[in-house]
Amino acid sequence: MSSVHADPTPPPRSGAPAQIAVTGLAVMGRNLARNLARNGFRVAVHNRSQARTDALIEEFGHEGEFTPAADLPALVASLEQPRKIIIMVKAGEPTDAVIDELVPLLDEGDIVVDAGNAHFADTRRREDALKAKGLHFVGSGVSGGEEGALNGPSIMPGGSPESYAALEPMLTKISAHVNGEPCCVHVGPDGAGHFVKMLHNGIEYADMQLIAEAYDLLRHVLGLSATEIADVFLEWNRGDLESFLIEITAEVLSQVDESTGGPFVDVVLDQAEQKGTGRWTVQVALDLGIPVSGMAEAVFARSLSGDVVRRTAAAGVLPGPSEAKADVDRDAFIDDVRHALYSSKLVAYAQGFDAIRAASDQYNWNIDLGAMATIWRGGCIIRARFLDRIKEAYDRDADLPSLLVDDYFKDAVTSGQDGWRRVVATAATVGVPAPGFSAALSYYDGLRAERLPAALIQGLRDLFGAHTYRRTDRGGTFHLDWSGDRKEHQA
Ligand code: 6PG
Repeated sequence: MSSVHADPTPPPRSGAPAQIAVTGLAVMGRNLARNLARNGFRVAVHNRSQARTDALIEEFGHEGEFTPAADLPALVASLEQPRKIIIMVKAGEPTDAVIDELVPLLDEGDIVVDAGNAHFADTRRREDALKAKGLHFVGSGVSGGEEGALNGPSIMPGGSPESYAALEPMLTKISAHVNGEPCCVHVGPDGAGHFVKMLHNGIEYADMQLIAEAYDLLRHVLGLSATEIADVFLEWNRGDLESFLIEITAEVLSQVDESTGGPFVDVVLDQAEQKGTGRWTVQVALDLGIPVSGMAEAVFARSLSGDVVRRTAAAGVLPGPSEAKADVDRDAFIDDVRHALYSSKLVAYAQGFDAIRAASDQYNWNIDLGAMATIWRGGCIIRARFLDRIKEAYDRDADLPSLLVDDYFKDAVTSGQDGWRRVVATAATVGVPAPGFSAALSYYDGLRAERLPAALIQGLRDLFGAHTYRRTDRGGTFHLDWSGDRKEHQA
């Protein structure tokens, strides 16, 4: 994290033009602007409704050199050239509206940065349009929530190398740092930065789903209380699972609700919401042909949780297993769940990195996968100790076909897989849903299988639709005359 502290006395104003601007001063934009100012950069700030700009100056004006601007022309006029303007507004139409208003005010070489959670296809379109006008458009992922934006986020900028060169000193300075290294790197051209941020969020979804399943199993199979489970997570956070999400799980589970005196988690409505980045990840992965089953199950589990109509119709109506108790040893089961969580998480990351590689190949982004793991080690929501292991895996072999075949990952899954299997079996036996754990295990078994039943699927396709098949013993494509003499023909 950046270690800049606010100084209560305003710094002397240099009078020099602002070095960078932020438009859109809701909490993320405001905190990014403050982070820049606290790191010594002169920041011009603007918001559509002036009240937010005024509030920022009044509350935090002493933190650095801010130039408030009443409108976009004033914002643009306050900047040194080439201008660097960060847009921090809602993804979608609001972003296009700001770009449309901004572009006529800019000069060749100016740089527009969209630091919101944009869809990478929108970023590609915008980058193309601005390039045609001689402008740079940088779609940049920023992760870490409001706290990260203020004290050091993980930053994933896309766009041209020239625009990154101009932004680099600022972005690396305000980003989180791990072992002295900034959690910010140029991801690749056009939509690469936003693609990687989208994948980060997909992994975030999978990670949270797996954590939720671990909690659910400990609660229902062992009957542990929320605070006891908080202690289990705290303990796990001292080992390989150490991560921000495990740490805050312990925090949420140990929270007591003020009005009922019971666990906070018990009074929260069990309907998980979503703003869309997880869903995008799965949609895009479907198009790329990359199985991201961990993320897909996480998105579906959120959808199911929110499907009140069907849940109400089924709860208490559809029977569960006759044997709803599992005969397990407490400590052994906790350890099995830890293995299930870690192994499933490794699968989710392996799938996520497969998707990044596939997109990088498709769009010629040339993304350095190890570098992505490096910039996720700090600042972002999925920051975790084991990201070092991913970096090391790609250092060993940049062309690794799957993270799961790297020695570290292979050993981790091998040592945990018996426990993982017991957990999936126990969940099925007692009727506790564990879609993340079981989908991850099925993926693992599918990946390692020497022969898959896909052969039968090919046979069926050929029978009903003459879709042809290939053979194991020789090249070519074949069709069998199913309704005739059942002889094989070269297709
Ligand atoms: C981050 C987060 C951030 C946001 C998610 C939440 O990296 O800082 O991912 O982007 O918290 O978008 O997403 P949902 O509302 O869809 O869960």
